[in-house]
Amino acid sequence: MDLQVSDDVSKEYLAEVLPILENEEFLSLGTFCHHQWTNRLMHSINVSYVSWLIARKLGCDAGAAARAGLLHDFCPYDFKKKTPTGECQAFYHPKAAARNSERVFQISEREQKAILSHMFPLGPMPRNTEAWIITLADKVCASMELCHVAIALARRDRMVLSGTSA
Ligand SMILES: [Fe+2]
Ligand SMILES: [Fe+2]
Repeated sequence: MDLQVSDDVSKEYLAEVLPILENEEFLSLGTFCHHQWTNRLMHSINVSYVSWLIARKLGCDAGAAARAGLLHDFCPYDFKKKTPTGECQAFYHPKAAARNSERVFQISEREQKAILSHMFPLGPMPRNTEAWIITLADKVCASMELCHVAIALARRDRMVLSGTSA
């Protein structure tokens, strides 16, 4: 699996997220269908990029927003499967994503909290600005993706995943 990045993607943005985008386990998210026609990797990249743009505009921690946005659905498994705890996937997967992010990457407490609260109002309320940005960006990206509208880095083939059927 290979992620091709066009030259017009901000180098400043890439510097924040490159170690995550080079990780094989993370890239495997590209094999999972998400919001009917896209894949979980592309959705995560879109949430990350939109979060980074908003955080920069607001003058808060854009790096934390970019990383937590990228990792918010770091769950390389089929969402249709039963969860180990019996919880609904909407409540379970943010905890799984936070656990996986801690296991594979060094994330800050701020980033962990943002991942855990991204499904608000299902689950905990966001407790920091970056967490609010990610829960908002997730909903915007999900809505656009469900309407088959390519946004953020999915537009104009700015990031293209090869080697998957999604
Ligand atoms: Fe999610
Ligand atoms: Fe999401």
